Amino acid sequence: MVKIDPHAVPHRYIRDHKDRPIFDPLSSISSEVPVIDFSLLTERDQHEQKKLDSACKEWGFFQIINHGVGEELLQKMNGAATGFFDLEMEDKQKYSMAENDLQGYGHAFVFSEDQKLDWADLMFLMTYPPQYRNLKYWPLAVPGFKETVEEYTREINRVSGEILGNLSVLMEMEEEGLKELHQVVKLGMSMNYYPPCPKPDLVLGISPHSDGGTITILLQDDHITALQIHRQGHWIPVKPLPGAFVVNVGDALEVWSNGRYKSVQHRVVTNESRARMSIVMFVTPHDEAEMGPLEPMLRDAPAMYRNIKCIDYIRHFLGRKLDGNALDFLKLQGNQ
Ligand code: OGA
Ligand code: NI
Repeated sequence: MVKIDPHAVPHRYIRDHKDRPIFDPLSSISSEVPVIDFSLLTERDQHEQKKLDSACKEWGFFQIINHGVGEELLQKMNGAATGFFDLEMEDKQKYSMAENDLQGYGHAFVFSEDQKLDWADLMFLMTYPPQYRNLKYWPLAVPGFKETVEEYTREINRVSGEILGNLSVLMEMEEEGLKELHQVVKLGMSMNYYPPCPKPDLVLGISPHSDGGTITILLQDDHITALQIHRQGHWIPVKPLPGAFVVNVGDALEVWSNGRYKSVQHRVVTNESRARMSIVMFVTPHDEAEMGPLEPMLRDAPAMYRNIKCIDYIRHFLGRKLDGNALDFLKLQGNQ
């Protein structure tokens, strides 16, 4: 990406004034993203389930601790991703996204020639179920890459399954309810690499957006605070809790829950001194699955969203600029 002059920020990265990440003194006084003890969720502890419910309602974001994914695997995963981004540019480009493909190495969300660019490179791979993998994009030359991604995927699949099980119960379904609604639970992994930026006040690592899937499970750098969520008119930093995962509600879950759970806007800011890596796992339904408010969620409230097939929503989501309001497309009139 930007290697030509280390002190200059190319014009296409410089945000309009209103979009720049100015320091907001109010953002640090508000309370922090809830922390959920995953091991209690596996026991279906009702108090912890309540915390999960209110985190999804009030914040759309939470961190999970005691998830049982070993420290060593987290480090290996970071190492595998770093191994890829450390390759020479010409080697990385062997894995470049083909046109009309989501998988591979590239720039996040480029829609048009005049759009502002995010200060990030990414590598996106479908990792589960195995038949969705496209190994031509997997940098097998990076030692241990394949084994590590496979192991990490298995572990995240376990974590995600537990979260979906608990959410199903909270949404008054059987444990397997959400899983069945997915038809096939798919996992897509994005390794996001944010190089240091000489002018962090002028750029964004990722533009404000919500995630389109069901939930997202994110491993962030333990030492750099960069992810921010939009809350009550402010951008609130998600301070890393070492070894924890950040989990957020995506658009599909907001729709299924008829708005009880919130798919919240978030963005990433950059810094001058250190590169940051995040490993993002998007949990998404099968293309043919149906998004729409579930019957138990309609007892006390009218339907807020219309039904849509997942593939049609994904097309809409990807076919627009990343301005954060993809869900408006499904909101029913009078409920905005
Ligand atoms: C994303 C995202 C946050 C991060 O990839 O959708 O929000 O910290 N990433 O990289
Ligand atoms: Ni996101």
